[in-house]
Amino acid sequence: MSNPLSPRTIELVKSTVPALSARGSDITTVMYGKLFQDDHIRALFNHSNQGDNGSQVHALSAALIAYAQNIDKLDALVPVVERIAHKHIGYHILPEHYDYVARALLAAIEEVLAPDITQEVLEAWGEAYWFLADILINREADIRTTLENSKGGWNGWRKFKITAKQPESDVITSFTLSPVDGLPVLAHRPGQYLTLRLKLEDGRTIKRNYSISCAPNNDHYRISVKLEPNGQGGSRFLHETAQIGDVIDLTPPAGDFFLPDEPERPVVLLSAGVGLTPMVSMAETIGAHYPDIETYYVHGALNSRTHAMDKHVRQVAKQHGKMFVATFYSDPTNDDLCGKTHDQDGYISPDWLSANTPFHNADFFLCGPKPFLRTMVYALAKRGVETDRIHYEFFGPTDENIAA
Ligand SMILES: Cc1cc2nc3c(=O)[nH]c(=O)nc-3n(C[C@H](O)[C@H](O)[C@H](O)COP(=O)(O)OP(=O)(O)OC[C@H]3O[C@@H](n4cnc5c(N)ncnc54)[C@H](O)[C@@H]3O)c2cc1C
Ligand code: HEM
Repeated sequence: MSNPLSPRTIELVKSTVPALSARGSDITTVMYGKLFQDDHIRALFNHSNQGDNGSQVHALSAALIAYAQNIDKLDALVPVVERIAHKHIGYHILPEHYDYVARALLAAIEEVLAPDITQEVLEAWGEAYWFLADILINREADIRTTLENSKGGWNGWRKFKITAKQPESDVITSFTLSPVDGLPVLAHRPGQYLTLRLKLEDGRTIKRNYSISCAPNNDHYRISVKLEPNGQGGSRFLHETAQIGDVIDLTPPAGDFFLPDEPERPVVLLSAGVGLTPMVSMAETIGAHYPDIETYYVHGALNSRTHAMDKHVRQVAKQHGKMFVATFYSDPTNDDLCGKTHDQDGYISPDWLSANTPFHNADFFLCGPKPFLRTMVYALAKRGVETDRIHYEFFGPTDENIAA
């Protein structure tokens, strides 16, 4: 990527890295305060990720610091841009929204770094912001064009009906979502997620991402949702209120975490808890289309009460023939029996993985809670799995704490 920013702009932006690192979250918190004075901008966001401890505040400040640090090494930004652009597509962020963020961000930098910030630095940041914004705007336009021109694709929100609601365990329930217009739907890439716009009973509208848990097809999607009793209501609404026949809005499948279009090497699908959803989509796809791809489905659950889709996955594996399933229970019930209900007691361990999966040449796909991801990503990298063979999804805004 060529860099059109002047050496002086680059130098001034880089000079703000220490202050940004120290005050980054303050800047984004002040920025959101300003941004959300506009109701229509506020409505674009997912409010459970905001607030003083909101992970979105952290994700945005981490992105800005990474940007300032790498402003002279733009290739390092490519994967970050890809992830953000997909997230923005899911939330239907449009070019006209960027000006609101520009004004709020620059005003926040000025306010928080006063009196130490000069007009020249602010102008350099303005230039740098628009440079990054244009990269995102262009990439988002490309993704949008591809989505619109693909069979079953669409732009923005489309109405889907819940056509099946299937409990998968005590805590996870699956929903089949079929388009109200009866037309085909875009075949997602296995691993991608949908964004749902939910109108809650108390009048609030919230947006939530859910990974698609079935193989791509042109007819419907399936999501599998874990009940979060203490959350702001997205999963509670789906579990307790939503019924077959109800209509909800979806943006098209998005996300940069997916199985390669033509997998060529062994695949290890590694998940914990509800992190199994993208793995089930990948396993179904490999089962249906890639008979020669050796696959390892390794899953950790508390016990048989919370463990979802086990029978289904084992059936897919049996039909495939080269798909191996191993399940770990960290808190087995009195009725759970190792060797019968599950394969191993305890947590998935790096030692077990290195002894039982092809470390030297497999692609690893991971999804689960942050401590699980952090431990596994670090352990895989430490044991010689190159970073381009480690792919992970986290069910919240990404931050720099996961990468090895
Ligand atoms: C790319 C992606 C894919 C995803 N895929 C899936 C999937 O396949 N299946 C799935 O079940 N989920 C998935 N999620 C998570 C999903 O989007 C929701 O975050 C989840 O369903 C919880 O939503 P909620 O509204 O019920 O709870 P939220 O309000 O989002 O709360 C989530 C958790 O945060 C904590 N919390 C929230 N507010 C507070 C508060 N005020 N005080 C203390 N704690 C609080 C709670 O402990 C709660 O358990 C995915 C997320 C992403 C980003
Ligand atoms: C250069 C400008 C921008 C940058 C660097 C940026 C950066 C980010 C980052 C890092 C994330 C988190 C991605 C992840 O989940 O990993 C994100 C998500 C998001 N962004 Fe942006 N963004 C920009 C512009 C905008 C604009 C203009 C809007 C709308 C006004 C916007 C709205 C959102 C929303 C709604 C999300 C999802 C929030 C969530 O998950 O709760 N962003 N952005």
